[in-house]
Amino acid sequence: MKKIILSSILLASTLFSANGYEVYKKNCMSCHVEMMAKSEVVKQFKTLKAPPMLEVSDRLRENIIIKDDDDDVHRYLFVLFVKDYIQNPNLQNSMCHSAALERFGTMPAVKISEDEKQAVAEWLYDRYEGVEFK
Ligand code: HEC
Repeated sequence: MKKIILSSILLASTLFSANGYEVYKKNCMSCHVEMMAKSEVVKQFKTLKAPPMLEVSDRLRENIIIKDDDDDVHRYLFVLFVKDYIQNPNLQNSMCHSAALERFGTMPAVKISEDEKQAVAEWLYDRYEGVEFK
């Protein structure tokens, strides 16, 4: 009995929490391609609408620096930044290269729920763990 209750609770929580990859596909993919090598980005720069997600993830990962080497804290701050950026993108906060900003302009705000923001921000961190933009 306990097992059944526990598994229904787990099932319910997965049903209600958004799936980060699905959120990405629905709300971000039209501008940010999931994967692209640096050489391809250079070649296709004129047709891209935004930096590829791999590049975005890598840049934020590198730019968000914490004093101690705690992955959980790093991920937490990364997620906070991304959630904020989704609803409030602006030049001051952007870590994009100025050439890219000039080409793409600033990202428009995307209106999604708190839950979806959390899920897609976590996805953005976890998806590219150990994947280098090169
Ligand atoms: C209409 C196109 C468009 C959509 C849709 C879009 N973005 Fe962006 N995004 C951009 C552009 C253009 C930039 C680069 C300029 C900038 O930094 O604002 C960008 C940059 C970013 C950055 C990097 C900010 C930085 O400082 O480097 C993050 C993070 C980001 N987007 C996340 C998302 C997420 C998550 C979604 C989906 C929920 C999304 N974007 C949907 C166009 C878009």
